[in-house]
Order: sequence, then structure tokens, then C-alpha cells
Amino acid sequence: MPEVSGLWAGRPMPVKATPAAGRLHNHTDREWEAARQIFRPRLIACLRYVLTAYITATTNNQKPETVMKIGIIGAGHIGGTLTRRLTQLGHEVRVANSRGPETLTELAEETGATPVTVRDAVRDVELIVVTIPQANVRDLPDDLFDDVPEDVVVVDTGNYYPRQRDGRIDEIEEGMPESRWVEQQLGHPVVKAFNNIWAQHLMDRGRPAGSPDRIALPVAGDNEKAKHTVLELVEELGFDAVDAGGLDESWRQQPGTPVYTADLDAEGVRQALKEARRDRLPEFRATEHSPGTFENPA
Ligand SMILES: NC(=O)c1ccc[n+]([C@@H]2O[C@H](COP(=O)([O-])OP(=O)(O)OC[C@H]3O[C@@H](n4cnc5c(N)ncnc54)[C@H](OP(=O)(O)O)[C@@H]3O)[C@@H](O)[C@H]2O)c1
Repeated sequence: MPEVSGLWAGRPMPVKATPAAGRLHNHTDREWEAARQIFRPRLIACLRYVLTAYITATTNNQKPETVMKIGIIGAGHIGGTLTRRLTQLGHEVRVANSRGPETLTELAEETGATPVTVRDAVRDVELIVVTIPQANVRDLPDDLFDDVPEDVVVVDTGNYYPRQRDGRIDEIEEGMPESRWVEQQLGHPVVKAFNNIWAQHLMDRGRPAGSPDRIALPVAGDNEKAKHTVLELVEELGFDAVDAGGLDESWRQQPGTPVYTADLDAEGVRQALKEARRDRLPEFRATEHSPGTFENPA
């Protein structure tokens, strides 16, 4: 027993304070594992908090004038990003994927969004985002939009990647704008937006209005009121919103056009939309072997 004075004089010194006990250096594997299990989730939660704080500090987080009820079909790169950003802004988000709400617990815990079935994503909401691979739009239930009121805004973020993912869609190959095809599949008018920006940039490149490096995004749609709602949402998310005309003009923002993934400012977007050429580039046309994969397009 080491010699001690003061408070502990004459008493056994607590093991914790006895360097000779060396307990801190003698953890068994099981103890380390237990400690890892306790601290790992806390470390992850802490990192998430720091990341959210960073994004909140560096991107636009202008609170919406009205909280909207939003349903998102698709929880991948774009659906997951919109779930994160729209909940950060204070909107009420429901999110669905193809495998069911039980597979979305982590995203729900992170964002506060409600994981739902595809059918519940379109029920009792004011705005719906359809953000799934283009060809999969055909797999949505035929009657999904039957009871969706006319004034509910539906946003299509889709892009047609025939050689990599979607395979041939004849109507689009023959010149129909991609979003017009989506609209016909859904049986509900759509507004085309968010299709020309990478998901990661949508996540972290939003900026307050007036910032010199603010990116602009084109928004196309036939219904002026619905388009206005989406233009406002784009602004709320930290991007300048550019009215890109009706849905028949929406080919101007499809893959391969000058505005596609170019991160331009408002003037740049207007100019790029003007300069777009109608012809699909060969890399965005199906072949008899389509689809391949993103690594090996066919
Ligand atoms: N990635 C980008 O940066 C980007 C940028 C702009 C636009 N886009 C376009 O936006 C769309 C979505 O892209 P993404 O990259 O977000 O796709 P992704 O990461 O592959 O995610 C697709 C999501 O759609 C869900 N899904 C697929 N089929 C479905 C169905 N029949 N019913 C319900 N949910 C279904 C998937 O659910 P499961 O996982 O459960 O199958 C998954 O959550 C595509 O058209 C893409 O071209 C992508």
C-alpha cells in the first residue's frame, strides 16, 4: 500500500487512484468491446451533430413561410438529400422506397421524417417528389395518383439513362421530353426540377440569396401555380430558381445539355437553356444491348 497523507491517511487508497493497480492498462478484450459498443454510437451521433451544424452554418437555412407536408418517393441520393434538407428547413416529410418503411429507420432517426409506404407518401400531402430511376416509374401502382387532388404539386427529378440503367423507352427515344413521359405514366401533371444537379451539391452548395457563388436551377412545368411553388422551394433550399418554361421545353435541361450538372448562376442557366440542342447525344440514346451498368454502359 503506498504511503498517503491528508484525507486518505491511514485508510486504503481507492484502487482508481493507485497507479500501481494499473487497471487502465489491463483491460481484457471483452472490456474493450463493451467500451467500444457504448462509445461508438455516441461518437457517430456526435459526428452527425457536427456535420449538421456545419451544413447549417454554411448553407441556406431560411425558414419557410409555410410549413408544407411533403411526400417523397425514393430515398436514394436525391430522395435522401431532399429528406435531409427539407426537414432541416422545417417541412413535414414522409419518405418511401421500394423495400418498405422498416428499411428507412436510420434516415427517419437522423432527419425526423416519417418512413411510409409508397401509397402513404401520396396521401394527405401538398407536394410529392418522385425521385426513382426513370424506368422504375412504370413499376409504381397504376392507380397511385387516382385520389391525389389536382392541386397537389408533383415534382419529377428523373433523368433517362438508357445505356447505364433504364433500358430503352421508345417514346423518349422518339423525342418526347423525359418529364412528359413521367407525367403520362403517373397520370398527374409534373414539374421538372432538381434533375440537373448532383445530389451532393444539392446537399451542401445551397447559399443564402445574394451570395456571389449561389447556383441556379431550372424549373419547368405547365401549371404556373405549381411551378411557382417549386420555384419558391428551390429558393428556400438555397438556389436561385429560373423559370425554364413549360414541360414541352424541359428537354433543355435533360442529360447532355449545357445546363446539366454545370452549377451555373441564374444568367448562366438562362443562357445554357437558350443554347441547348434538341438532338439527344449518342451516349444518351439506347442501343440494342441497353441497359448495361454505370461502369459498363451498353
Ligand atoms: N444521383 C444524382 O446525383 C442525381 C441527380 C439528379 C437527378 N437524379 C435522378 O433522380 C432519380 C433518382 O436518382 P437517385 O440517384 O436518387 O437514385 P438512387 O440513389 O438509385 O435511389 C433510388 C431510390 O428509388 C427507390 N425506388 C426504386 N424503385 C422504386 C419503386 N418502384 N417504388 C418506390 N421506390 C423506388 C429506391 O428504393 P430501394 O432502395 O428500396 O429500391 C431508392 O430509394 C433518377 O432518375 C436520377 O437519374 C439523380
